[in-house]
Amino acid sequence: MLNADQPGRRCPLHYRYSPSVFRDKTDLRADVLYIAGGLYGNPFALEQLLRLFASERKPARLVFNGDFNWFNRDPSTFVNVNEQVLQHTALRGNVETELSSDETQGCGCAYPEWVSDGVVSRSNEIMAILRRTAHQFPELCAQLAALPMYLVAKVGGLRVAIVHGDAESLAGWSFAHETLSQTPNDERLKRWFETAAVSVFACTHTCLPVVKLVRLPAGEGAIVNNGSCGMPNLAGTNYGVVTRIATYPTSHPTCAQFVIQGIHVDLLRVDYDHTAWLRLFCQNWPAQSSAYVSYFKRISEGPAFVGPVVL
Ligand SMILES: [Fe+2]
Repeated sequence: MLNADQPGRRCPLHYRYSPSVFRDKTDLRADVLYIAGGLYGNPFALEQLLRLFASERKPARLVFNGDFNWFNRDPSTFVNVNEQVLQHTALRGNVETELSSDETQGCGCAYPEWVSDGVVSRSNEIMAILRRTAHQFPELCAQLAALPMYLVAKVGGLRVAIVHGDAESLAGWSFAHETLSQTPNDERLKRWFETAAVSVFACTHTCLPVVKLVRLPAGEGAIVNNGSCGMPNLAGTNYGVVTRIATYPTSHPTCAQFVIQGIHVDLLRVDYDHTAWLRLFCQNWPAQSSAYVSYFKRISEGPAFVGPVVL
């Protein structure tokens, strides 16, 4: 296996922060908050996401939670996706961080040991190719570099930390389904909620959706990972997923929902134009290309994951 210090496995120091950074801040307030992590350069998912968002009562806010770039290697889609995303609130994920930095850490995914060396190497290749596209647009890169890594939102009285990875790192895997399903009573999770003074961590990065409810001394906490907005998330499906947190319930199709402190939390389906996305993906990433080998099966059929989404 590639050792933990190789590009793609390494978690750079500048990706890290303390859970105390969330404690005394509130960056935005809304009655409806959409958190879209992992758009991965899918313009059709973006179109459907914006359609869903437009149907909400105001005040509503949309936060792109990083990795909105990945498969958008053609200049036209690269510009289109970034220009639309940057009209809303956005955080940088590892993809935007590596796209806009002078020195690359590979893909910046900080992949754990259960991810194969082949996936890691191909992700580094995808990043190298996407950087060549991105560097044709230095003004967009400068905007990506200036994006924050995290923020705190308030919906009603509910405090929500929005992070790309986990409570300590832009590319952390502690909020992955694979990790959370193995840690039923993790004291570290409780400490993170208490230190951050939030009731929800909304995250993405690890590419599978998961909701984990955590009993805290002061009430209940929740980790809500939307998986991917721009790729299928469950076996046999072809829709993306976005997190919705709101003071009133949704009328849109959802694949998980719960109520915390009177606030409605949903993982909404993003039913994008699957045929159009497959066509564009294959134009950009023909058979045998790094992205095709790693992702075509998932994009066309969904991942092997069958849930449960709620732990
Ligand atoms: Fe990521």
